[in-house]
Amino acid sequence: MKIITIANQKGGVGKTTATMNLGVALQRRGYRVLLVDGDPQANLTSYLGVTPGEAPFENLRTLDEIYLSKRPIDGELRRQFIAVSGSGVSLIASDRALSGVEHYLFSRPDRELVLSRFLAGIRDEFDYVFLDTPPSLNLLTVNALCAADAVLVPVQPEFFSLEGIVKIRQSIEEIRSRWNPRLSILGVLPNQVSHRRKLSREVLDTLRAELGDALFATAIHDNAAVAESSGHAESVLDYDRASRGARDFTEAAEELIRRTTNHGGSKQART
Ligand SMILES: Nc1ncnc2c1ncn2[C@@H]1O[C@H](COP(=O)(O)OP(=O)(O)O)[C@@H](O)[C@H]1O
Ligand SMILES: [Mg+2]
Repeated sequence: MKIITIANQKGGVGKTTATMNLGVALQRRGYRVLLVDGDPQANLTSYLGVTPGEAPFENLRTLDEIYLSKRPIDGELRRQFIAVSGSGVSLIASDRALSGVEHYLFSRPDRELVLSRFLAGIRDEFDYVFLDTPPSLNLLTVNALCAADAVLVPVQPEFFSLEGIVKIRQSIEEIRSRWNPRLSILGVLPNQVSHRRKLSREVLDTLRAELGDALFATAIHDNAAVAESSGHAESVLDYDRASRGARDFTEAAEELIRRTTNHGGSKQART
């Protein structure tokens, strides 16, 4: 099982969109995929068409309960946290209750490692786990980074995108030295790229010069079908499989497979 955290302290760069569409693309390739909605805004949960508490998810438990549980979660109880969505990928869902969790977590001595422990218990059930995160470096994001083998950083081609990458690299260094030495950078994925825009091209050139191989060769283009698909609670691969967005995410998933295979999970990526 490879655990990949999607992170960038900036909001609106495509973390949730990448989690959803890479997850579905890998599931189409025959992998067993679990997505975890680690953001109290619960955009990923709605994108997958899951409403906790409503049919057919009446009995679904949500991520906040994993963080709040005083006992280890195993056996039959563990099953109650995993929903199978219409698209076939599995999900640990969230709702607003997750926003109250951080406050409580501070008093737990193992506060950084709760998610990691839970995922260790389902190691054999999935090939890829994607952890979506909120746009900040709070305890929810720290938990996701402590649980991960690698980090994928979506960026939009803007003037300040490099600053965001520098920040996330510093965070990764800190997580590595304190809790999770196996954490590597899987890569930086350019999103909402428009080749017609000079700024997009310039920023991509700068990113390539600065990041080298850490920059994905695949770029996700700005594509209306991608934005529309979330409103329809379908991945872009289901919403319009001939769209540019569907093709981009399918190609990015292929590159992700190559990168996870080459990096071999526990080895450090070149960054
Ligand atoms: N490649 C794309 N083309 C068009 N719209 C996109 C693309 N990627 C993301 N979006 C839109 O941009 C907005 C922010 O994306 P989102 O994945 O929610 O960002 P984040 O999770 O980082 O906050 C959403 O409305 C989404 O539909
Ligand atoms: Mg998001």
